[in-house]
Amino acid sequence: MLKVLVTGALGQVGSELVPALRRFYGTEQVLATDIRGAPAEHPSLGGPYEQLDCTNGNALRELLERHRVKVVYHLAAILSARAEADPQLAWRVNMEGLYNVLEAARQINAQVFVPSSIAAFGPNTPQDHTPQDTIQRPNTLYGVTKVAGELLCDYYALRFGLDVRGLRYPGLISYTAHPGGGTTDYAVEIFHHALRHNQYTSFLGPDTRLPMMYMPDAIRATLELMQADPARLRHRNAFNIMAFSCTPAELAAEIQKHRPGFKMHYAVDPLRQAIAESWPRTLDDSAAREEWGWQPHYDLAGMTADMLEKLAERALKEV
Ligand code: NAD
Ligand code: SER
Repeated sequence: MLKVLVTGALGQVGSELVPALRRFYGTEQVLATDIRGAPAEHPSLGGPYEQLDCTNGNALRELLERHRVKVVYHLAAILSARAEADPQLAWRVNMEGLYNVLEAARQINAQVFVPSSIAAFGPNTPQDHTPQDTIQRPNTLYGVTKVAGELLCDYYALRFGLDVRGLRYPGLISYTAHPGGGTTDYAVEIFHHALRHNQYTSFLGPDTRLPMMYMPDAIRATLELMQADPARLRHRNAFNIMAFSCTPAELAAEIQKHRPGFKMHYAVDPLRQAIAESWPRTLDDSAAREEWGWQPHYDLAGMTADMLEKLAERALKEV
């Protein structure tokens, strides 16, 4: 059976990708790893887990060889707002970590998944219907590492024939784990605050439009891309994928349809507002649709209804 290793497995994406991979490949086939020690309870546990710092190339290579890993999902990263607070750490984790993964995978000929982001675009990128191939001059450290990472992945595919694939995730909305310090985190926090306090104070202004995606779509996109016929992939890396795009005011209005008393307030954080304004508002994902059949299932209304239902169910179980 194929052996799979996931880095950054305790984060927002890993918390849902690891269980999905275990359902697909079998629990024992998927080794979850993260720089953090195993917590008492976590969705990425209940199967093999090891502590791994991806900036430690020797430890990473040793683990891949010991477990005869065939596929690596490299999720370890420092996200946009946290990266601005500590750019040196973000460079080490996002660049050295990626280099270590690609080098180790090259040596054992493993397949690799590397997420990029809407942050790989910058203020002079066309912001509406952002093309797959366009100007990429981001002005955040996170964005710089994402563009450099996309190029490095392309290089390893071209130069060494490594089967490395990737998606530019939009802002991801999920109920399993809290997000890890990004600019789109408001779109997750708002649901927790709506259920607990019936109000939320957004750190982005009301009209800040960003591409968003519900986690089930992001996980399905990841698995579909990794299983896609390589002969059909002209891009291979860094595919734009789009589900819906919304502003904080529109998301609040959608929540109000379910919770009429919900109140939205604004206290704009200039740092995260500037980051958001440098990113696309909508994406052209025709390459993903044509090359591997990408289709989102959730729009704003469907995601909102499901988030509220799932979080309410969870709250009931916790009582
Ligand atoms: P997250 O911050 O929730 O999780 C990242 C995980 O990496 C954390 O569990 C952290 O402990 C771990 N980590 C940090 N440094 C590490 C190191 N040196 N070695 C090993 N692990 C380390 O992030 P996420 O949302 O799960 O993001 C996963 C990937 O998806 C990242 O590449 C991110 O850039 C990308 N992405 C996420 C979003 C989103 O909205 N969540 C959007 C676009 C792209
Ligand atoms: N959601 C991520 C962030 O805000 C985008 O990559 O950092």
